[in-house]
Amino acid sequence: MNVKKIIYNRIFGAMIAAGIPPHFKPNVCQSTKIQFGDYQINGIISIAKQLGQSPNNLAQKIIQYLNLNAIASKVEIAGPGFINIFLERTWLSQQATKISQLPYLGIDKPLMSKTIVVDYSSPNVAKEMHVGHLRSTIIGDAIVRTLSFLGHNVIRANHLGDWGTHFGMLIAYLTQYKNQYNDKNISLADLEMFYCKAKCKYDEDEGFVKLARDYVVKLQNGDINCRKIWKKLVDITMNQNQKIYDRLNVTLTSKDIMPESLYNDMLPNIVHDLIKKGLAVNIKGTTIVFLNEFKNKKDQPMGVIIQKNDGGYLYTTTDIACAKYRYEKLHADRMIYYVDSRQHQHLQHTWSIVRKAGYVPESVTLEHHAFGMMLNKDGIPFKTRSGSTIKLAHLLDEAVERTFIIMKQKNLRMSQQELLNLSEIIGIGALKYADLSKNRTTDYIFDWDNMLALEGNTALYMQYAYTRVISIFRKLDIDIDSLSGNSNIFITQEQEAQLVIRLLQFEENVIQVAHDGTPHLMCSYLYNLAVTFSRFYEKCSIIAVNNNKIRQSRLQLALLTAKTLKQGLDMLGIKTVERM
Ligand code: ARG
Repeated sequence: MNVKKIIYNRIFGAMIAAGIPPHFKPNVCQSTKIQFGDYQINGIISIAKQLGQSPNNLAQKIIQYLNLNAIASKVEIAGPGFINIFLERTWLSQQATKISQLPYLGIDKPLMSKTIVVDYSSPNVAKEMHVGHLRSTIIGDAIVRTLSFLGHNVIRANHLGDWGTHFGMLIAYLTQYKNQYNDKNISLADLEMFYCKAKCKYDEDEGFVKLARDYVVKLQNGDINCRKIWKKLVDITMNQNQKIYDRLNVTLTSKDIMPESLYNDMLPNIVHDLIKKGLAVNIKGTTIVFLNEFKNKKDQPMGVIIQKNDGGYLYTTTDIACAKYRYEKLHADRMIYYVDSRQHQHLQHTWSIVRKAGYVPESVTLEHHAFGMMLNKDGIPFKTRSGSTIKLAHLLDEAVERTFIIMKQKNLRMSQQELLNLSEIIGIGALKYADLSKNRTTDYIFDWDNMLALEGNTALYMQYAYTRVISIFRKLDIDIDSLSGNSNIFITQEQEAQLVIRLLQFEENVIQVAHDGTPHLMCSYLYNLAVTFSRFYEKCSIIAVNNNKIRQSRLQLALLTAKTLKQGLDMLGIKTVERM
């Protein structure tokens, strides 16, 4: 049930009938204030301006042709050219009854499902994931869940950084010092330390530099021994990262790893092809693509290196190949990248080359869903006291420990183990929600106290709200499954109408989140729904009401609310519990 779309179509029809050229599209929004009705049409002022008409006249004309019979009880013009729409209560109750009887909360699956490749998480081998990877991992996963719910063919692409010159250093180091380390017990933290040591050696020892370079070449040429060591580095890294994904309730598995090395064999041909197409030039052994639409500091066309003079390829070269692969081999209709906003330039350069070379047609979108940084209370990047980046694993531990302390104070009747399990669900959920509820495009301040607050748009509030709805059924000794479907929904009070409208808005909200990659809209939707439900529950008694039809209707509304909250939180990858 997409109320917004229904209204959009009717308004658009009226605009055409009123003689407005079809490239002008209506801007339908949920009303910001109750006195503006349930939906408002904005943007008429700007259309009127372009057509040289008065906004008020234009709005009048649109209304003349607007057919919202049975859907709206009132349509009015407010101010200069705003149209407010008040929905008809009977229509609302019919629609609510309808969605309560349909699967998937009445959400229509798209007629044509798309193949959508989502590039997310994408950590690097021999490095622990840090807070920056948290954002990509959980925002990406929320969108993957949302797109899958809508019935799209979603391909998760974990673009693991497993290739490049630093593997030469690591292999050289491990080969030289192999006796010092017990091969079996190397952890990811050890690898990170080896890498630091290898880097130091690389910076001061000429012989080591040569050795490392030789190993890179050997690795690229498929030397069995090098590949073996490299494979081990990858396995150690991803075994540890998989544990983090599982803890985070993120759907990535080892099957989703599409590492940088996957594109290695494509790189020589791509460089040739770009030269052949006249896009790349060779300057003293270095192959460069000059992009006119981007300027360097000297205001000259930006030069993007795709092959160094020692033959090595770059991050950009791999990403060019990767986009080509995703189109040609995976048949992507849409590609979304959840990558730090600092890599925006890199992706823009890459895609500009990809488009010019004709590797991905314009009909396939390449979308960078960028995100900002996580800052501490003082507004500076989140770091440990000693100034190093915070490892993701430590962040998760701290979230769970802090939750455990709070839960313990509540004296819940639970065993230590149950309390630990609950703290894991709540702590991780809270950490994720604190991030997902912020608009991803900007930096945000992370604060432990806010994260675990009970009031406001927080995970705890949402999880409590869910258990509160569920507890209604428990109190009445009603089995939720026995309820599904058959009673009609009636609107007798304003609070019921408000709740019904919110419930009906779930679909348009899901569509928006799937389109823009903005889980924070889902968070605020769910928060509003929970608040609207408590207002409804305060005013509209379920237990004490005598009229059985009304009681059944209200139970149905409570059930729909519970299902919507659960489904919405599930799309965010946040677990719910039945009791807290
Ligand atoms: N591995 C990179 C990093 O940790 C992110 C990769 C993003 N994806 C891509 N196709 N470039 O910063």
